[in-house]
Amino acid sequence: MVIPTSMPFIDEEMEKEVLRALREEFFVGGKSVEKFEEEFAEYIGVDYAVAVSSGTDALVIALRCLKIKGRVITTPMTFVATAESIVLAGARPKFVDIDAHTWNIDYKKIDVDRDTEAIMPVHLYGLPCEMKEIIDIAREKKLYVIEDCAQAHGAEYNGKKVGAIGDIGCFSFYSTKNMTVAGNGGMITTNDRRVAEMAKLLREHGGSNYSEYIGYNARMNTINAAFGRVQLKRLDEMNKKRRKLAKLYYEELRDVEKIKLPIIDEKHVYHLFVIEAEERDGLREHLRSKKIFCGIHYPVPVHKLKPYKRYTRKNFPNAEHHANTCLSLPMYPMLKESELKMVCREIKKFYGD
Ligand SMILES: Cc1ncc(COP(=O)(O)O)c(C=O)c1O
Repeated sequence: MVIPTSMPFIDEEMEKEVLRALREEFFVGGKSVEKFEEEFAEYIGVDYAVAVSSGTDALVIALRCLKIKGRVITTPMTFVATAESIVLAGARPKFVDIDAHTWNIDYKKIDVDRDTEAIMPVHLYGLPCEMKEIIDIAREKKLYVIEDCAQAHGAEYNGKKVGAIGDIGCFSFYSTKNMTVAGNGGMITTNDRRVAEMAKLLREHGGSNYSEYIGYNARMNTINAAFGRVQLKRLDEMNKKRRKLAKLYYEELRDVEKIKLPIIDEKHVYHLFVIEAEERDGLREHLRSKKIFCGIHYPVPVHKLKPYKRYTRKNFPNAEHHANTCLSLPMYPMLKESELKMVCREIKKFYGD
């Protein structure tokens, strides 16, 4: 028996919808995409949602819509696409260390200089950032907030869904995410009509034959939207299962001294269940030998990666410690409790607990 780190969920209705869209629609854009946008906007609680072809495109287009060219404050502990999108949009990342417990950006360390135009918090692993404090800083310093929600579909903060808190929210529907479109896809959410209109132009070559901007080919494929619509219907139920599994991990592992567990919270959607572990690489090897596959999210903080070193001279000790110790345990809605318990047994065995 093999236990992977993550696994997408597919059912018959999703397959049927894809076939229906394939037969009845026109491959790119169309009714399924429009409906997906309406339903996603309603679910998040915003006026507009614009579907694009990836989470990275969503971030780049969001920055372009706000015409951001200066510095964008973000975390070094994220998937590289966060910082990459900032550079691709013609701006510069300004990294701020993470909090040692939430592993999200530490708002207390945010310092805003004259060039800073925006904050891009990442709700890492499905845990919402401390958005009240981040929004307070943004208001005071007149900065935009673009939420990177690629890992946090359905997560809530103070009664609002992430993606509805800042000026723009950006989602990814890549195959391993809490919801997917069976391939690449992304969504931009906003209450700003002008942003939504510009995003629609940018995703289609800046307005196609009547181009107003230099844009992208970043449209969503029809069958991806058809699949995504059914995934969206299942999202809350799937997140509930993830939360239940997270609680069980917590109960099974809370006494293991050599690991640090993530925050257990009702609003967390556990895209990943990440621990900090002593002898991390040895533990990963031990689990692999039992066919339990764990991930490392992320082995090198972004500010240490070759193309991004130039943006900072600082060290970020919390991000660096996390990169050296983090381990993503198997987490997906269909993970059986018996499998989870086996993972925990093997972890305890490794540490001799
Ligand atoms: C935090 C974060 N931001 C951005 C992205 C980019 O999304 P995509 O792979 O859909 O381009 C991802 C996911 O891959 C991510 O995890």
